[in-house]
Amino acid sequence: MTDIPFSTVIEKLSGSRVLLVGGAGFIGHNLAMLLRASNVETMVLDNMMVNSMVDNAFHDRGDLTKRKLNIHFLMSRFDMMRDAGVHLQNCDARNFADMAQAFDAFKPTKVVHLAAIASAVEARKNPGLCFDLQLTTLRNVLELCRLNHEQVETLMLLSSSTVYGDFEGDSVDETTRPRPRGIYANTKYMAERLVRTYHHTDRLGTCIIRPSALYGERCVSRRVSQAFIENALAGRPLLLEGGGDGRLDFTYIEDLAEGMVRALGLHGGRGSSDTFNLTYGNARTIAELAAIVKEVVPTAILEERPRAVEKPVRGTLRMDKARERLGFNPSWPLERGYRQYCEWYVEEWRKVVGANA
Ligand SMILES: NC(=O)c1ccc[n+]([C@@H]2O[C@H](COP(=O)([O-])OP(=O)(O)OC[C@H]3O[C@@H](n4cnc5c(N)ncnc54)[C@H](O)[C@@H]3O)[C@@H](O)[C@H]2O)c1
Repeated sequence: MTDIPFSTVIEKLSGSRVLLVGGAGFIGHNLAMLLRASNVETMVLDNMMVNSMVDNAFHDRGDLTKRKLNIHFLMSRFDMMRDAGVHLQNCDARNFADMAQAFDAFKPTKVVHLAAIASAVEARKNPGLCFDLQLTTLRNVLELCRLNHEQVETLMLLSSSTVYGDFEGDSVDETTRPRPRGIYANTKYMAERLVRTYHHTDRLGTCIIRPSALYGERCVSRRVSQAFIENALAGRPLLLEGGGDGRLDFTYIEDLAEGMVRALGLHGGRGSSDTFNLTYGNARTIAELAAIVKEVVPTAILEERPRAVEKPVRGTLRMDKARERLGFNPSWPLERGYRQYCEWYVEEWRKVVGANA
């Protein structure tokens, strides 16, 4: 592993202005906080359309726990961003004129594209919207980066480990040929191809990030890591399909955010193009995840179910390239990171849901 102190990365970001498109979400607000802690000017553009107040306050209004807890998490994000000095603008990234105005006003030197339906399951329910939020927003970002090429040094795209499709072996690296399956993975792969095309034709500085199975404080997406701890607290069973032998490269949000800041700071600028897996780098089973929940909430009920036929086959995303080039050394194994998250969740549950659960 290359040793690159974080302070060196921050020095390289000095004077940068980072624009996060779709930045009020789970990854975006955590990244914004870390950038601000490093004194980097940061602006978030978001239309609050996915995993938002509307989803949680209105559509899920029958589920009191979800409503109260998730709204509390969403409000905390705003409080934290405001206190940290993040600029925030409500803007639909599908609207070119609004985006152009924001580019004009903020004058970003680095842009991170995060807008999407960030779930393969949700994307499958609404493929047209998935296409739109991933690719129409990206079209506008690519064009604005091209038109402002003197100013924008780096465009970072949040892709996904799902571009690899079903794993043939235990692990993949960035040289493994993508074989995306389904609308979510395919729009991610198309997005990667478009980003690389703009790099080739216009020498745009680009950086593609492939994260996997994130978990952490203030996530409201109800992926397995959130669903398990929430079900344990609500007295609902934790469902283990196929005995919970499915494997995912679970990654704590703090590790990802640090890796992204490293990639932004160390990127070579105009003319450079990179793709990085940014995960913990060690796939773990769903049963192992459930075991940690059971340690934190001993009353948790584990229930085995038959394996779903369509379930993707996943594994470890190797991270040698990020270690070598970015000095990225993730420091949160599941036992520490997920346990810390579960303990935090229990505390928030007590404060917010309390006796109403
Ligand atoms: N969370 C994960 O485990 C994970 C893993 C791999 C890849 N990713 C990718 O990372 C990115 C961010 O994921 P996240 O977990 O923060 O998701 P998220 O849903 O929390 O955040 C996405 C944000 O994009 C915003 N958005 C959507 N359409 C928009 C539009 N038209 N204009 C402006 N904003 C818009 C949403 O309102 C939301 O705040 C996504 O592209 C996702 O596919 C996430």
